[in-house]
Amino acid sequence: MLIGVPRETNAGETRVAATPATLRQLAGLGYDVVVEAGAGALSSFGDDAYAAAGGTVGTAEQAWQADVVLRVNGPTVEEIANLKDGATIVALLQPALRPELVEALAQRPITALAMDAVPRISRAQSLDVLSSMANIAGYRAVIEAAHVFGRFFTGQVTAAGKVPPAKVLIAGAGVAGLAAIGAANSLGAIVRATDPRPEVADQVRSLGGEFISVMELEVSSDGYARATGEDYNRLAAEMYTEQAKDVDIIITTALIPGRPAPKLMTAEQVALMRPGSVIVDMAAAMGGNVEGSVAGKAIVTDNGVTIIGYTDLAGRLPAQASQLYGTNLVNLMKLLTPERDGQVVLDFEDVVQRSMTVVRAGERTWPPPPVQVSAAPAARAAPARVEAPVKEPRPVWVRYAVIAAGFLALWLVNAFAPDPLPSHFTVLMLAIVVGYYVIGKVHHALHTPLMSVTNAISGIIVVGAILQLGEQDDAKVRVLATVAILLASINVFGGFAVTRRMLGMFNRG
Ligand code: NAI
Repeated sequence: MLIGVPRETNAGETRVAATPATLRQLAGLGYDVVVEAGAGALSSFGDDAYAAAGGTVGTAEQAWQADVVLRVNGPTVEEIANLKDGATIVALLQPALRPELVEALAQRPITALAMDAVPRISRAQSLDVLSSMANIAGYRAVIEAAHVFGRFFTGQVTAAGKVPPAKVLIAGAGVAGLAAIGAANSLGAIVRATDPRPEVADQVRSLGGEFISVMELEVSSDGYARATGEDYNRLAAEMYTEQAKDVDIIITTALIPGRPAPKLMTAEQVALMRPGSVIVDMAAAMGGNVEGSVAGKAIVTDNGVTIIGYTDLAGRLPAQASQLYGTNLVNLMKLLTPERDGQVVLDFEDVVQRSMTVVRAGERTWPPPPVQVSAAPAARAAPARVEAPVKEPRPVWVRYAVIAAGFLALWLVNAFAPDPLPSHFTVLMLAIVVGYYVIGKVHHALHTPLMSVTNAISGIIVVGAILQLGEQDDAKVRVLATVAILLASINVFGGFAVTRRMLGMFNRG
């Protein structure tokens, strides 16, 4: 079968549905690929690169007349007419928001698959284009904010003065929010994040952010947030008022599926931010999380706060976005090509393929039956509070009794044992006491370097035992010395082997 990749025609679209790298992978599945001339120009993929990867560079008509058409954006009504009968088109079709497009597609004997309708289940993660685009967008939101913000993100102490680190608040710790936390943290900012889903707290912390919990809510059963209640919203408003006075940058990513974006910040709260502060409202296209944000634009408020409402954040990294989108498409094609023979087989028993099929051979199949999306682990009942057993402090007399017993043993040995045992025994006892207190005060993290000290002690044992072997004729002493050399050598060479392995962990590659 032939796969066609036409040029994107939406104003401002920079992405393309296949890169030279993904084209090679499509060819590996048994497909021929035709790319419209200039399709990858805005993503920095020239026609030559597609040709070198094994594709054909052709006209728009050739690309639209293919058996399978891969696009980023859904087609216009005119473009639908370009498809040949029996063709399959795969794109971001937004079927829930664009019923007229679904209707127009169903007028033709074609099959249409919506990349934005992939269910968020673990098995479908490799085709989840919403996640791959949100990941890029979250990163880019931080870059946009950094571009407008007139200061460093990271704190510095320089000869010209001390620079405090920027403080960044991320609202909503989904895919985009987590990417933004990671990016802001790696630029050196102090990052805080909030989300009504308590289960994301650990993810926020693992990326170096501080989690701000507004209110204890239940763990979400499907990985998505529910609309928040009045109590939550009141406490959240107090939190945003406090944070607005403190932070330099706010990135909002809050979204509840199937609803307009929740309003998180009022104009009054925005007015509390310092001049020069930046807000990136990633949900601007869905109505916005911040009062005053304008979809597709950056505006500056009266108090000098820039509110960025760009809706094309992923497209602002076109080569990266095309590569990830193209890879999502390759993973879909792998699913649709079970025999790797260049033939599409649509399997309606497979929940992923069923969910994303909007039209099948001219028959409207949207909306699909609901899917149980990847559930977060069900909230466990709070474990009954178990009081830790309180350790009774050891009575003081026990300590004194142990010390007394030690002195008694020392006196007995000194009084009755033959020379040179008493002096050796005294040294041993002193070594035990000093060793106990010295090693007991060393932090656990430093126990490994301490091992090298034991290597040194083993070295002394080896030297002593060799001397004994040279001077003594007594068989018992010679046997003991040999055993001592053997055991001490195991410690020395074993120590070197362990150290080598540990150093190996720090070697790249
Ligand atoms: P997601 O569903 O993975 O994450 C949304 C997060 O918002 C969830 O963690 C949810 O718990 C949280 N949330 C819901 N209500 C909240 C509230 N009242 N306060 C704080 N957090 C709340 O969504 P994803 O994929 O991370 O996308 C986030 C947003 O970014 C969406 O609005 C999406 O449309 C937008 N987006 C924007 C792009 C752009 O170019 N501007 C590009 C890609 C995504």
